[in-house]
Amino acid sequence: MSQRLCGDREAPAPDSVLTGQRAHVAPTVKPVLTDMSQRSGDSREALTAGRGPQRRPRTRPSGVTLPAMPLPAWLISQLGRPRGLFGRFLARLLNRANLAMNLHMVGALDLAPGAEVLEIGFGGGVALALLLGHDPTLRVTGIDLAPDMLELARRRFAAELRSGRLQLVQGVAEQLPFPTSHFDAACTANCVYFWSDLDAGLRELARVLRPGGSLVVAINAPEALIAAGFAARGLHTLSADALVLRLHSAGFADAHARRLPDRGSHGAWIVRGHRDVTS
Ligand SMILES: C[S@@+](CC[C@H](N)C(=O)[O-])C[C@H]1O[C@@H](n2cnc3c(N)ncnc32)[C@H](O)[C@@H]1O
Repeated sequence: MSQRLCGDREAPAPDSVLTGQRAHVAPTVKPVLTDMSQRSGDSREALTAGRGPQRRPRTRPSGVTLPAMPLPAWLISQLGRPRGLFGRFLARLLNRANLAMNLHMVGALDLAPGAEVLEIGFGGGVALALLLGHDPTLRVTGIDLAPDMLELARRRFAAELRSGRLQLVQGVAEQLPFPTSHFDAACTANCVYFWSDLDAGLRELARVLRPGGSLVVAINAPEALIAAGFAARGLHTLSADALVLRLHSAGFADAHARRLPDRGSHGAWIVRGHRDVTS
């Protein structure tokens, strides 16, 4: 019996998730998307157009699976701060395993052209690539505490950094080095578990978002995280409903949670809210 770290092939296709139309996807994203559709047997060309062999959809998930038993401490530590050769390998693995969840997260941001967007804990850069590919007018900022993830992203997104569309910063959610009301939208996937002070991080997000700005937090279900040993390591394994309450306390209005489509594991959640305009 195993549990998934992410959504699977039953997640909506990338283009419909983002906009309801075909998404403009940057070249940096393409290999990941292509790979996912091939792995999941979800290729529309193969299934519907009669081109190539007719393949039966696979039943196994496209992402990485986790055994329903505690992960070793060193692996949980790597997930919270990927480092070294293994950290770089892990980051690439997470880019695939968490693609569906990150697609839902970016889609839920409902971004207007020209928006200033922040991502916290970008890891291997899966959401940065989606944001940059989604709309060339977006201005994207990523912050991560791990120096090795910064280095990886600086190489991967060298062109976007040169053009000024992307800014990468080393730092932590709990102390964001950005001015008040600077961003139109912010997001973070698979990251809040590791924050030393969850409420401080959420308050910082409320501070750096403009009034009315949107926040989307993507998390795995607590049951899956607890089974993987996250709670035993003192990490946050709160439910989506509990996170909704914490968002309200931190200064977000109309926060609500939505479960992502999957095939019956504990699944993953998107929690969304807007920076309160009155506070
Ligand atoms: C499990 S990875 C998730 C990466 C990516 N968001 C994804 O969905 O695949 C968690 C990332 O969050 C970063 N991180 C952990 N705690 C953080 C904090 N307090 N502030 C900023 N980044 C943090 C880690 O360095 C790591 O890159």
